[in-house]
Amino acid sequence: MTASSSVFIDACLRRPVPYTPIWIMRQAGRYLPEYRELRSRVDFAKLTHSAELAAEVTLQPVQRFPLDAAILFSDIMTPLQGMGVALDFEPGPVVREPIRTRAQVDALPALVPERDVPFVLEAIRIVRGAAPRKVPLIGFAGAPFTLLCYLVSGRPSKEFEPARTFLYSQPGAAEALIDHLADAMAAYLAAQAAAGAQALMLFESWAGLLGPPEYRRFALRGARRTLLALRRALGRDGVPPAGGAAPEVPVPLIYFANQGSTSFETIATLEADVIGVDWRVPLGTARRMLGPLKALQGNLDPAALFAPRAELERHIDVVLDEGRYAPSHIFNLGHGIWPDTDPDAVARMVDYVHEKTVRD
Ligand code: CP3
Repeated sequence: MTASSSVFIDACLRRPVPYTPIWIMRQAGRYLPEYRELRSRVDFAKLTHSAELAAEVTLQPVQRFPLDAAILFSDIMTPLQGMGVALDFEPGPVVREPIRTRAQVDALPALVPERDVPFVLEAIRIVRGAAPRKVPLIGFAGAPFTLLCYLVSGRPSKEFEPARTFLYSQPGAAEALIDHLADAMAAYLAAQAAAGAQALMLFESWAGLLGPPEYRRFALRGARRTLLALRRALGRDGVPPAGGAAPEVPVPLIYFANQGSTSFETIATLEADVIGVDWRVPLGTARRMLGPLKALQGNLDPAALFAPRAELERHIDVVLDEGRYAPSHIFNLGHGIWPDTDPDAVARMVDYVHEKTVRD
């Protein structure tokens, strides 16, 4: 570990680490009493649009548990609101005018992060200024296909029928939307890194909706376009960045493909340092499919946190054991933590992962 780096960043970059780092998807949220207390006074939209409150919520889990990374408190839909898309959280995002036509796609403005979402960038600066235990901060965005799912369907659902029929009925418009979102999210993530985010994650929550050909045509296209633009902006493909020097410690890029294992062979070709894996595929299998060049992040079933203590430890052991086959492993859940999870179980999990993996 170098002086300027951290266990989490080193693991992302497949460097040797003194123990397996852990953080939890959705760690800043409703299972925490301190979040619920704040949330009882302030609605979700206000929380995400206030730099001070978003920073406070970001820090809540890292103050309570010895986690190895913080993740910015925001939502994948927040930058779309900044682009003028009207939506409400009920609690999932509901878009007032879903996108169904090429004309609507063409009318979407570009995202200018400093102008459209300055509070997100300010929240990052506040968190970095506070930085308890020098814990690194992960910035994030929704991957283009996952954002398309919400923009076209208009609300969360199991099958996202309007979004999937859009891919087949208007593939050209769908590709144009994917490209537009990719450019917007690349600008958004580059601005987060410039504001101080030390790793960047793309959430592909709905990868599991697609078979391999559609995954390649739409989801992979969007993720690749985002990641390539980001690499250019961060100065990691040999092209010097337009403004300023490349950061001394590289900013790792993480791609979480929920239920994406049927497309792992193509995902292995993505320009990400880390692949997030859900609990349906063992990490050893994921490792074989993704090859030796990706660090893996995951993948305890969020439901396992409801097991009795000894059982929970056994389930963690399985994940750690499978994770040994990864070139580098970052412990996480296989998807977001559930709101009714006991925070004490989380505390036990974090301590157990650290104790079990510490190398002397
Ligand atoms: O701790 C963290 O991970 C940071 C905060 C975060 C939120 N949303 C806060 C939130 C992150 C990283 C997200 C990403 C997000 N948002 C995703 C990708 C990750 C995933 O779980 O697959 C998706 C698909 C969304 C869309 C979304 N936003 C949904 C489906 C919901 C409602 C249901 C749910 O799972 O919470 C939201 C609202 C939302 N985003 C809440 C929080 C804490 C709940 C709002 C509330 O407090 O009422």
